Amino acid sequence: MTQATAEAQPNIALIKYWGKRDVERNLPAVDSLSVTLRSLRTRMSVEFSAESGIDQLQVNDAQAPALLRRVSTCLDTVCGRDRPAARVVSDSNFPIGAGLASSAAAFAALVVAADAASGHARDCITLARLAGRASGSAARSLYGGIVALRNSAANIDVKQIATPEEWPLEVVIAVTEEGAKPLGSGDAMIRSAATSPFYASWLSAQGTDFDTARTAVRNRDFASLAAVSEHNCLKMHSVMWTSRPAVVYWTRATLACMETIRKLQGDGVPVFFTIDAGPQVKAVCLPEAAEAVNSALAETAGVLRTLPSGLGPGARVLAET
Ligand code: DP6
Repeated sequence: MTQATAEAQPNIALIKYWGKRDVERNLPAVDSLSVTLRSLRTRMSVEFSAESGIDQLQVNDAQAPALLRRVSTCLDTVCGRDRPAARVVSDSNFPIGAGLASSAAAFAALVVAADAASGHARDCITLARLAGRASGSAARSLYGGIVALRNSAANIDVKQIATPEEWPLEVVIAVTEEGAKPLGSGDAMIRSAATSPFYASWLSAQGTDFDTARTAVRNRDFASLAAVSEHNCLKMHSVMWTSRPAVVYWTRATLACMETIRKLQGDGVPVFFTIDAGPQVKAVCLPEAAEAVNSALAETAGVLRTLPSGLGPGARVLAET
């Protein structure tokens, strides 16, 4: 086969990856735990052809020269530097580069499509490690449901810890800006490691947060997962805020969404927030609360639209039609 198409869903971290222990190999400094979404998706089609000479990338119907280097490097990692040139076509049903984990879905799908197109058929953990080299969070999108990523001596271990059926959490994303973020997460986390006075304590407490979340998932203990996830998110943002220059992704709308979620919690609604490298707020809730959470966020000042989603599958090759 010289052509293949794969689909991957973005994932949202509840215990965050922020910081690299090896920039060259893009290995994370900390363990992380995430949920893979269902309704948001990125499709990547990769076609190798000896004739074309140079790689080409099309993202959502437009040429994307700015992203091409990262894509070419990822293809080299999967297929070797002596591979033929590739034509890559990507299509997402959600805003990209805006803190909605678009790079996680894109690189997970790219690695799976490139592996299939080059006839390798590697196993899931090998593909996850290859995706992680391109974007740390992408390693988690190889798996569905609730996913744990742990550092091992020289690499990462990634596995599913609950299927979507075992704990059918719902996520409502409050989109507050559609545009691309000013500073990518990779550069921002390198800055945090070099300059934030809180970075060392962030690293040292991550194991405890991870274990608390892991146990909460095992016991389906929503209150405990909510408490540790919000705490972990706010710590990550404290590290960002205290970097120099400061990395502040929040806007007025971000705070308004947090206030909405606090009000819902006050009314006994099982929901919590998490925020990544962008102004969007992701609300995680139990299924019975999804409608109330969705309408409360949709009515919040500054929210452009909401994207509700259950938990979904890991990255996979799509059958050709
Ligand atoms: C805030 O995976 O985008 O979303 O490895 O440099 O590509 P690179 O970083 P990336 O960082 C994700 C950061 C985060 C938290 C998370 O997803 O765990």
